[in-house]
Amino acid sequence: MDLGAGDGGYVLHRARTEPATFAIAIDASPDGLASGAWRAKRARLRNVSFLAEGVEHLPPQLSGIADEVTVHFPWGSLLRGLVDGSRSVVRPIADLLKPGAELRVLMSAVERDGVGEVTPNVVISRSGAYADLGLDLVGVTWASPVMVRETHSAWAKRLGLRRPVVFVRYSRRSSRRGLISDGTSSDLHGIQSTRKRPS
Ligand SMILES: C[S@@+](CC[C@H](N)C(=O)[O-])C[C@H]1O[C@@H](n2cnc3c(N)ncnc32)[C@H](O)[C@@H]1O
Repeated sequence: MDLGAGDGGYVLHRARTEPATFAIAIDASPDGLASGAWRAKRARLRNVSFLAEGVEHLPPQLSGIADEVTVHFPWGSLLRGLVDGSRSVVRPIADLLKPGAELRVLMSAVERDGVGEVTPNVVISRSGAYADLGLDLVGVTWASPVMVRETHSAWAKRLGLRRPVVFVRYSRRSSRRGLISDGTSSDLHGIQSTRKRPS
């Protein structure tokens, strides 16, 4: 599942290159999704679907079915919720994932986006809020241009790849065991972080 999918370019790529994968594009706005749906129809892709809904209001039928959830270049409430680790955004995302499945986020924010600059250290500092909701931080690093290109993101093309982009991976815990009383995970030892900013 790709959340904040825009025109669905990433799910179309995954559906085309992985016939055994069923890919779902979800976005609060139907504008971009409609063009993706037309492209899927023209390409006769039957392993892709489009849902116009905000992450805060996902249907319960999607709970626990995702092998992977991606979010590429979020903005608005999706970006704010992911940066803050807010319950209204992170919880419904965590609910989508099967135990052990991963949430993979590429995001870029600078001061004028209203959430402060997003760096690997900022992500690590918010990891307790995610752990509280069943998502353990696996790794955080600056994304390379190749990683950004692989998202097939129309938005990244517009940004021109000049802004620093953070790549974060979280894993869905199968139970809430492993949390300690202040809400932080007791198992953060495996976090890999590349803190050096790309030149
Ligand atoms: C900058 S666009 C990125 C689109 C696409 N992922 C890409 O990389 O080209 C951010 C998208 O996030 C969506 N979005 C913002 N808040 C959202 C929310 N709460 N739930 C779902 N989608 C949201 C917007 O509608 C927009 O399409």
